[in-house]
Amino acid sequence: MRACLLLLFLSSGFAPVRVYDQPYRPQFHFSPREHWTNDPNGLIYFEGEYHLFFQYNPFGDQWGHMSWGHAASRDLLHWEQLPVAIPESDGVMIFTGSTVIDERNTSGFCSGGKPCMVAIYTGHTPARPGHAGLQTQNLAYSNDRGRTWTKYSRNPVLDLKLSDFRDPKVFWSRQTQEWVMVVSLPNDHKVRFYGSSNLKDWKLQSEFGPAGATGGQWECPELFELPVEGAGSETRWVLKVGLNPSALQGGSGEQYFVGRFDGRGFRNDNAFSTTLWTDYGKDCYCALTFNHLPQGEHPVMMGWMDNWQYAAKLPTSPWRGQMTFPRSLSLRKTPEGIRLFQEPVKNIARLQGSEIKTPETHTYRLRSEMHLGTAQELGWRLLSDASHYTLIGYNRRNAKLFVDRTHSGLTGFSKDFPARVEAPLHLTGDILRLDVLVDRCSVEVFADGGRVTSTNLVFPPAGANGAEPYAKGGAAGAITTTVNGIRSAWPR
Ligand code: FRU
Repeated sequence: MRACLLLLFLSSGFAPVRVYDQPYRPQFHFSPREHWTNDPNGLIYFEGEYHLFFQYNPFGDQWGHMSWGHAASRDLLHWEQLPVAIPESDGVMIFTGSTVIDERNTSGFCSGGKPCMVAIYTGHTPARPGHAGLQTQNLAYSNDRGRTWTKYSRNPVLDLKLSDFRDPKVFWSRQTQEWVMVVSLPNDHKVRFYGSSNLKDWKLQSEFGPAGATGGQWECPELFELPVEGAGSETRWVLKVGLNPSALQGGSGEQYFVGRFDGRGFRNDNAFSTTLWTDYGKDCYCALTFNHLPQGEHPVMMGWMDNWQYAAKLPTSPWRGQMTFPRSLSLRKTPEGIRLFQEPVKNIARLQGSEIKTPETHTYRLRSEMHLGTAQELGWRLLSDASHYTLIGYNRRNAKLFVDRTHSGLTGFSKDFPARVEAPLHLTGDILRLDVLVDRCSVEVFADGGRVTSTNLVFPPAGANGAEPYAKGGAAGAITTTVNGIRSAWPR
């Protein structure tokens, strides 16, 4: 009987394919089934679903033919990849952007008396001999929860005749009762704020920048409001901008500004030279928050877990590129000022297995509190075997947290990959608190309650399962650790 079934199975032409189980395939981070992805786009929550659109090449594992891929989830953990949402057409690529829910049909795109989803994206026409490239802002809309999309027949809605003008983030402003667009002038190191009552006609309100880090192009702007924890009804706005190249750790990375926004313009609370980084690792770029979350929910942000320096060379197949784990954001007062804190969304607990002593796979969460004791340096050696390891450590002398992946495994595919990255971190009470997500080819570190994050890809050899604390230049004090395996979020 068994033999018959097997024969039937094989002759039917279907082999049992483990689609999400190739070497290095993330188990609880989103990656497309196959092909290339970069930035997350159009993150939005609508009618019980989280939507993740993403920069996608439907035809291969290198950047090109940029279109919006699509995946949906009910819990931010399990994603179902859906057909391409907005494809490249007529030689115009669909670059990064956002989506909104048009509750009151201000655009006229919604049918059946129900709210619809509107995407605002950059249309990119590549340069060709004799013609400069062109980037404009465009609309598309969907009346079936993002499943099918129609491009607006009168695109573009914003055209400055520039070859660099991109990545619109749009949201509804309760202050002005209008739509706000934050969009980047990459070479000027500026973002612009536009206002509109119908998503089609946009009026320039103000500009911000240059400020902070300006070594590379400014891309992927994002703006959102957060309560300041423990400060009553006080809020601040966070303006986040991607920088490529010349970010803190080389290549692409992101900075943020804390300030006030009145619906028309942004005022930085800090001196214009103050540079704050959202992540101190090499691999978190073009992060975006979900629009339209239920009232009272803290913003949730996801980024592209990658770096333009080597994104095209990552040793993964048949996909290239993945997202960070979704992060819950908050603003807290610190001795240095008001800062952005990031923590993995609480839902992660649903994928957590029971506590384990030592990891036997490369998919786990490690939380630990380490009293510094007399140690000059202490931390964790993860994903280790006799000759490989990834270090997450704290150096007391210079008050820096670091992640060192120079011996992590496959590193030679790009000269920019082997790296030791650092983040300033003045510990409270001489205790190093770490929350670390390990998912086959990535290590996401949330330190000191999310005050510092460091996101880094790693490609360890199979079987490099070691996870040991270490100390140097003295002895560590008490260490408490919890390790939980994380179950795969993908169907087997
Ligand atoms: C950032 C970026 C965006 C652009 C997109 C194109 O990673 O360069 O500015 O819209 O990628 O894929």
